[in-house]
Amino acid sequence: MLNEIVSKFKELYEQEPIVVRAPGRVNLIGEHTDYNNGFVLPAAINKEIYFAIAPNRLHVCRVHAYNENQTDAFFLKQRISRSSRSWENYIKGVVAQFLKAGHEIEGFDLVFGGNVPIGAGLSSSAAVECGLAFALNHIFELGVEKFELVKMAQKAEHEYAGVKCGIMDQFASMFGEAGHVVKLDCRSLDYRHFSADLEDYRIVLCDTQVKHSLASSEYNTRRQECEAGVVILQKYYPQVKSLRDVTLQMLEQHKHEFEPVIHKRCLYVVSENNRVEEACHNLEQGDLQAFGEKMYLSHAGLQHDYEVSCPELDFLVDQTRNDDSVLGARMMGGGFGGCTINIVKLDELENFSRRIEAAYEQQFGRKPQLYVAQLVDGCSLVDKNQLFTYSEEAVAEQTALC
Ligand code: GLA
Repeated sequence: MLNEIVSKFKELYEQEPIVVRAPGRVNLIGEHTDYNNGFVLPAAINKEIYFAIAPNRLHVCRVHAYNENQTDAFFLKQRISRSSRSWENYIKGVVAQFLKAGHEIEGFDLVFGGNVPIGAGLSSSAAVECGLAFALNHIFELGVEKFELVKMAQKAEHEYAGVKCGIMDQFASMFGEAGHVVKLDCRSLDYRHFSADLEDYRIVLCDTQVKHSLASSEYNTRRQECEAGVVILQKYYPQVKSLRDVTLQMLEQHKHEFEPVIHKRCLYVVSENNRVEEACHNLEQGDLQAFGEKMYLSHAGLQHDYEVSCPELDFLVDQTRNDDSVLGARMMGGGFGGCTINIVKLDELENFSRRIEAAYEQQFGRKPQLYVAQLVDGCSLVDKNQLFTYSEEAVAEQTALC
């Protein structure tokens, strides 16, 4: 696809682009903890968006979305308004952040596209935002630090896509490292890469193919519910700034002052945050069994207390419970659809996929999409010759499973 994106660029704009890649992400554990200033454990994966881009010495941004086969153009001198097409908002949102921060950017030509499935919970939007931020920083030689680019990408999502997301997705797309997961403390922004040595296990994603329209409105509601919990506890513990500072004892002691639904939400977040710390310890000790058990606990909390799962996700997780080839499974990302993440024994991959596809199809009348995730580096410039080899490897791995 990269070659096609570059060819399209040359055809449309008659100049030579540079190329940037930006990956989607998985999250092993730590769901809905990022905007509560807690811990997350994501990784960048081999589902990527590519950008062919070059300055055009005009004051206009000319953009072609390869997957959608749609084109847009907007002027830098005018106020950059939101658009009705969602992909345009990711582009405009990022450009607006550069302008807001006073960076000298000029017009550019862009063709972008890739293989991160949309609405599957693999953060295609963060990949678009981060890749563009990385690319603009490069072509206009702005020297903006990577963490700053991450924050700009997140703000683009808040202000133009309208989702008050945390920082995890953009961080993972920018700071991923091949073969590693990264534990991020979303309060201090300290991070540490952990070798994801899963031995003879692999990370398998099962995409329900359900894209729930509820996702963004419920997401913002969950955020408000967490904030409501913090307000109650702050009366007694002024040091509490977010659910990160809350303990299970505090929640228990003041339970009677909470509306039950707010209490459930907070209980989930505080427990999940503790689980990330324990799960990282399990990973360091090489105790994959214990790690997998935490994934199931995480799913139970998301299903019953945080209530962001859906029947399709629950079904896929339930299918793995008595499957000896699976160490752990849970829904991943914002919820209401998208993927489950599963840790599956390598030499059982084929049997696992056959079983789960058949069961899902029988229940819901359609097949889930399965992917084996490889952990890759965060956003980078692409050497066009190298990429060719790289994607061949990725294709081979996918073909082995599906
Ligand atoms: C979405 C958001 C992230 C995070 C997850 C849930 O992917 O973009 O910031 O909150 O949901 O963990």
